[in-house]
Amino acid sequence: MRRFISVIGMVSLFLSAGAHSDEDKISFPENYRATYTNYLSLDRTQNPDQVIRLFANDIAMQGPGEDGKLPYGSILVAEVYKARLDSEGAVVTSSLGRRIKDKFALVAVMQRGEGWGEQYAEGIRNGNWEMAAFKPDGSKANKDINACLACHAPLTESNFVFSYDHLVK
Ligand code: HEC
Repeated sequence: MRRFISVIGMVSLFLSAGAHSDEDKISFPENYRATYTNYLSLDRTQNPDQVIRLFANDIAMQGPGEDGKLPYGSILVAEVYKARLDSEGAVVTSSLGRRIKDKFALVAVMQRGEGWGEQYAEGIRNGNWEMAAFKPDGSKANKDINACLACHAPLTESNFVFSYDHLVK
């Protein structure tokens, strides 16, 4: 029994150590559909079978400051959908030539905070942004956050935000 308890102790130690990983700075943005602005929706530009809807909180909607960066406290939410496929697995397009959203797959979040991101190596670091990925029900999605950071990291001219021009006032 004692051995059993010590195993539980070790497992919970391990879990609590894991809970301090940096993506945990970001909690699921409850109610973002009601309280954020849906500033852009589009067929994804680098994923041929996905659709994305982008939301920003009021702080991010202020747009970049004179330093070219979105203010601390900015939160950007990307709802990722699978595109509808036909019976042969090809992406269906509407009469507008656009993909049609099907299954709601992921809620990807970026949040900018003062002093954040210092632990990352150059090439991965996104300035003061952190990222996190959730399932649509708000639970944590099992995603490699370093892969998220690595794809956004080259965007040094637009504060690591692909849709930056859509947030400039
Ligand atoms: C291979 C490149 C790539 C990867 C990997 C990637 N993204 Fe993005 N992300 C993009 C692109 C491109 C956009 C702009 C919309 C579009 O075309 O899909 C975007 C948009 C976003 C946005 C809206 C703000 C913006 O930059 O326009 C958020 C939030 C976001 N991604 C978070 C994430 C998270 C979290 C992950 C990991 C789970 C991730 N991204 C992985 C390329 C990537």
